[in-house]
Amino acid sequence: MKLHTDDKIISRQSNWVFDEHVAPEFDKHVRKSVPNYVHVQELAETFSDWFTYPNSTVIDFGASTGETLRRIKRRHSKALNLIGYDNSQAMINQAKTKGVDITFADLEKPFVLPDFSYAVSLYTLQFLRPYARNALLKRIYHCLENCGGMFVVEKVLGSTAQMQDILQQLYWEMKAKNGFSSEQIINKAKALRGCMYPKTISDNEAEFTALGFNFEIVFKESQFCGWLLTKSL
Ligand SMILES: C[S@@+](CC[C@H](N)C(=O)[O-])C[C@H]1O[C@@H](n2cnc3c(N)ncnc32)[C@H](O)[C@@H]1O
Repeated sequence: MKLHTDDKIISRQSNWVFDEHVAPEFDKHVRKSVPNYVHVQELAETFSDWFTYPNSTVIDFGASTGETLRRIKRRHSKALNLIGYDNSQAMINQAKTKGVDITFADLEKPFVLPDFSYAVSLYTLQFLRPYARNALLKRIYHCLENCGGMFVVEKVLGSTAQMQDILQQLYWEMKAKNGFSSEQIINKAKALRGCMYPKTISDNEAEFTALGFNFEIVFKESQFCGWLLTKSL
C-alpha cells in the first residue's frame, strides 16, 4: 500500500527506506520531522573541537547526505581524515552532489573499522536491530582512541507508559505545526513499523555503561536524546 509521508515522499507499509525518492528530499524532511535538528548539527560540529587533532580520524555512522561531515570539514583548518558510512546508495549519491564522499557499509554487518578520535551517530543506531547495534557499539568502543569522544542522538521511549503517551502526542503536535498533515503523520508511523528499535534513556545508558563508555546527556527535546560518550584510560 502506498503511504504519503511528506509532500514529495511516498512510502510503503512497514518499510521505511532511504531510497532514491527520499534522498533528494531528506535534508528538508529531516528538518521538518526532528526537533532542533540544526542545533544538533551544530553540537556535532562543536564537540569535534575537543576530540580532533591534525590528521585524526572522524567517523559519521549513518552519514546520509553528508551534511554533518561537510560542517565538520568546514569548521577546521587542520587536516582531518573524514569517513562517513551509510548503506543507502541513494543517500551516498546525494552526498556526492555536495562534494562529500561516503563509504558504502552495512552497520549491521562486520566491516573494517579504523581507530578514530571522534565520531557521530545521529538518529541512526535506532535503525539497527538490537543485537547488531550492540555488536557495532562494542567495535566502536574498541576502535575509539583513549580520550576520544562520540556524539550519539537517538529517538527514545518515555520512562513510563504515561510519559511515552505524553511525549508521543507532543511529538505529533510538533510535526503538525511544522506542516505535516494528520495523514502524513500516521503514515510515517506505519512506514516505520518494524524498521526502528528505540529504547528508553535508561536502557540506552545501561548499554553504554556495560560497554565501558563514560557518558553525559547533552541534548534532550521531545522524543530525542543526545549523549556525549567518552573513553578514558
Ligand atoms: C535518519 S538518517 C540519519 C541522518 C543523519 N545522521 C543526519 O543527522 O542527518 C539514518 C541514516 O542511517 C542509514 N542507515 C540505516 N540503517 C543502516 C545500516 N544498517 N547501515 C548503514 N547505514 C544505515 C540510512 O541510510 C540513513 O542515511
